[in-house]
Amino acid sequence: MAKPAARPAADGRVTTGTDGKDARRGAVMKQIGMLDLAGELAEVREPIRAGLDAVLDSRQFVLGPQVEELERRVSAFSRCRRGVGVSSGTDALLCALMAAGVGSGDEVITTPFTFFATAGCIRRLGARPVFVDIEEDTFNIDVSQIPAAITPRTRAIIPVHLFGQCADMDEICVVADHHDLVVIEDVAQAIGATYRGRRAGSLGAAGCLSFYPTKNLGGFGEGGMIITNDQAFADRCVLLRNHGQSGAYRHEYVGGNFRLDAFQAVVLLVKMDHLEAWNAARQANADRYTERLVDVPVRTPQVRDYNVSVYHQYSILCDRRDALREHLRGAGVGCGVYYPMPLHLQPCFADLGYTRGDFRRAERAADRILCLPVHPMLKAEDVDYVAECIAGFYRRR
Ligand SMILES: Cc1ncc(COP(=O)(O)O)c(C=O)c1O
Repeated sequence: MAKPAARPAADGRVTTGTDGKDARRGAVMKQIGMLDLAGELAEVREPIRAGLDAVLDSRQFVLGPQVEELERRVSAFSRCRRGVGVSSGTDALLCALMAAGVGSGDEVITTPFTFFATAGCIRRLGARPVFVDIEEDTFNIDVSQIPAAITPRTRAIIPVHLFGQCADMDEICVVADHHDLVVIEDVAQAIGATYRGRRAGSLGAAGCLSFYPTKNLGGFGEGGMIITNDQAFADRCVLLRNHGQSGAYRHEYVGGNFRLDAFQAVVLLVKMDHLEAWNAARQANADRYTERLVDVPVRTPQVRDYNVSVYHQYSILCDRRDALREHLRGAGVGCGVYYPMPLHLQPCFADLGYTRGDFRRAERAADRILCLPVHPMLKAEDVDYVAECIAGFYRRR
């Protein structure tokens, strides 16, 4: 799959809880992956087959009734009035920024500690990403630093609900209202999360979801959605995802081809039936890790008391991170570093003029973070095994 190597493989070959032969030692070793797409597939294969057949019979492969139903289901789930299905989470961000009128010379405030797409989309529109450091405990944007980053050119703020936990949206919206800025939530990792009882994606002007296969609600390919309570905003997105076309070959805007496939909608509709249970399973796994790691010298995730996280990732901060990662791999445990290089240090953003030291919390997190398997197919004994491997690493050295 043409995705950066740093992202977890989405090929379904990863397994968990199964025992594999360790050829060198001739022993049986646990294999616990970051994902278990095969396990998910076992729960959804048959209804998906039936849905795909219906699409084949209808021969409407792009947009159509399945996409419309998905838009209704996902927007209702997220307590938004509208959903606009698009071709990826990246395109959701791009389309939402276009709908907000962001363009050349504008500035958009966001976090440097996120997946590349968040800032990449800002740049692609000729606007400038303006980074603000993160909170040390939640990894989300530090709202107290936003006002100092606002200039007359600032148009929007993109808070990212990283690893499944919402940023401090009330504070962000107060600042945004005061300066007349649009707030676009990056909800790629947080479908179903709540902030003060409200759903992620319903808190700003619009939310952008990703249905990449590794996400809490993942398709069998690329997909995304813009969710919003603003009808006019949704209407603009509907046009923008189809080259800005308002009628046959009449184009109101220069948009793009951001349309969602019917096949993906079928998969996602079936998986929607499992989303709450799968999110709850992630939360149970996370709680178990936190219990098991209580006496281990790593920092477990901190969730604010007004937030419910859906644990897209269970991220610990640890000393000797790379050695721990190797130790876990040697014990058959997959883990990931999200993200190893903050965005202000990426080569493609060199012209923005940032240097190392500008966002120290993001830089420290990049050096110390490690994400453990937390997917819904994980069993309690798998969590215990991973936690014990970590405890063993720090006991021995
Ligand atoms: C925070 C964040 N934003 C945006 C995206 C982009 O989504 P997609 O991969 O569907 O384009 C992702 C997905 O990796 C993400 O994690």
